[in-house]
Amino acid sequence: MKQTRKKGISRANCEVLDALDPLRDLRARFELPDGAVYLDGNSLGALPRRTAERHGALVREEWGQSLIHSWNKHDWVTLPQRIGGKLARILGASEAEVIVTDSTSVNLFKLLTGALAMPDVKGRRIILSERGNFPSDLYIAEGVIAMGGGKYTLKLVEPGEVEEALNADVAVALITQVDYCSGRLHDMAQLNNCAKNAGTRIVWDLSHSAGAVPLELGRHGAELAVGCGYKYLNGGPGAPAFLYVAKSLQANFETPLSGWFGHQAPFAFEPTYVPAAGIERLLCGTPSVIALGAMECGIDTFEGVAMDAVRKKSLALSELFRALVDQECDEFGFTCITPPDPENRGSHLSFAHKHAYAIMQAIIDRGVIGDFRHPDLMRFGFAPLYVGFVDCWDAVTILREVMLDGAWRADNYHKLNRVT
Ligand SMILES: Cc1ncc(COP(=O)(O)O)c(C=O)c1O
Repeated sequence: MKQTRKKGISRANCEVLDALDPLRDLRARFELPDGAVYLDGNSLGALPRRTAERHGALVREEWGQSLIHSWNKHDWVTLPQRIGGKLARILGASEAEVIVTDSTSVNLFKLLTGALAMPDVKGRRIILSERGNFPSDLYIAEGVIAMGGGKYTLKLVEPGEVEEALNADVAVALITQVDYCSGRLHDMAQLNNCAKNAGTRIVWDLSHSAGAVPLELGRHGAELAVGCGYKYLNGGPGAPAFLYVAKSLQANFETPLSGWFGHQAPFAFEPTYVPAAGIERLLCGTPSVIALGAMECGIDTFEGVAMDAVRKKSLALSELFRALVDQECDEFGFTCITPPDPENRGSHLSFAHKHAYAIMQAIIDRGVIGDFRHPDLMRFGFAPLYVGFVDCWDAVTILREVMLDGAWRADNYHKLNRVT
């Protein structure tokens, strides 16, 4: 790979950082293509080494040989709770507060409708969220409002205005801790405190936090949360999402998605719905066993890993990447829109550029994989379990090469793919 001539941080410096990295051996838990620099674990986590083997056994032996007996014999029936129990450590929750099931959007629907039905927010008419929130979160809120026949209004504010907007008119707030575009991070403890003072409740979307940012849902007063399984948790494409309901809320928490797996006795086949006592009441239909098998392998990649160490490395990687873009690509007009201070950012960086899409396609062709978000953002995610410091150097070096040789101008890099 061509070395740039600028002075400052060198590839050798990055090699030293890799050698000193206490998490460097974790990369061996993943299968990554040779020569690729994978900076998109914030969108789709890499493939854990154990997944293919586990999947093979699950399909060939558990399904193929034990057939329907596996619901009992291999305890398929409690997979959402068991995997949720493992995930609880990463979320700072207790085991009986987390399940893994459905998609983030569906889980948001369950928690939003459940929160709105709680007696202590009766009479309140506002669902609060952020203007730039992930669209699915806002679409779900719109859908819930339409179901309520105009009873509720969606109020959107800038991320910096959430705190003051949490007042006695708000029934529920839908807040995403790490913004999918800017990477801005909310202080969860502080916002939960404000919500509590206002007598309202936050449904947290932790899609870009779980597995990247240390979470203390219990200690920080979170009551309700959801998040994706396929990003930093490495659960595979379209992996089941997670859902958290604090123990204190569970007994009275009800969702209109009252499917049989949420019933207290699904196999009693009773004609009327009686919800299960605990977090299981948030299940709906039959667990997606094959997907859950992969999800468990994803969560297992965190076995024995301290989330503080993950956070420390995540911040060091993004700090280095930003410094390298400054050093190597200063003249090309990239603007980092992610907050510079560590306490205000998650684990990805976003750079605005007029030709962001084509540039991203050109570097992907050279093995540096990030993604593009409308209208002009290049996103680079730093999954500390498998991204190294030399990866940052190589990625920025290739970015510089593509800008210098103008490769991004080729017509094929301007054709918009369905998934960007
Ligand atoms: C912040 C955020 N929320 C929600 C979602 C949607 O998740 P799902 O497709 O599982 O419904 C995404 C997907 O990328 C996301 O980034």
